[in-house]
Amino acid sequence: MQTLYLIGFMGSGKSTVGKLLHDKLGGLYLDTDEMVVEKYGEIATIFEQKGEKQFRDYETEMLRETAGENFVVSTGGGIIERRENGKFMKSNGLVIYLDTSFDEIESRLGSDPTRPLWRKNDLEKQRLYQRRNKLYSELADITVVTDHKSPHIAVKGIIGQLQ
Ligand code: S3P
Repeated sequence: MQTLYLIGFMGSGKSTVGKLLHDKLGGLYLDTDEMVVEKYGEIATIFEQKGEKQFRDYETEMLRETAGENFVVSTGGGIIERRENGKFMKSNGLVIYLDTSFDEIESRLGSDPTRPLWRKNDLEKQRLYQRRNKLYSELADITVVTDHKSPHIAVKGIIGQLQ
């Protein structure tokens, strides 16, 4: 199996969908956020004490560890902030974008304290969303809209497009 990378905004369901996809397809499941936490500690603490750049360095380092085949990889929403990460995912596997509307993200995340970049005012969050939406779309080999869909239905949609 070609390695599959799940990308999308915070709250788009990358981890849930990634685990289900892995249940269906097999291979090995990895999550770049979990990898960072395991090696370097909680994400909110890294942002607070070392800053976003340091987190992006850790995230990029973890992504590099997914080189090879047979992985289903859930990524952090900001993985596309570094162009080199997009290039890496494209050259190492297939990129799947979980496309979720801003309103749906807001209702899913509420005021989640564990996501430092979600602790902003509405305008800033919308700007971040719009800017990234474009980057995800440009990078995607497969796009699945996840609004009003259960993770199981999203997985069905992905598998349908893989065949
Ligand atoms: C981030 C998203 C988070 C996590 C970190 C930064 C982002 O992952 O990597 O808080 O920049 O969008 P999720 O997309 O899993 O929430």
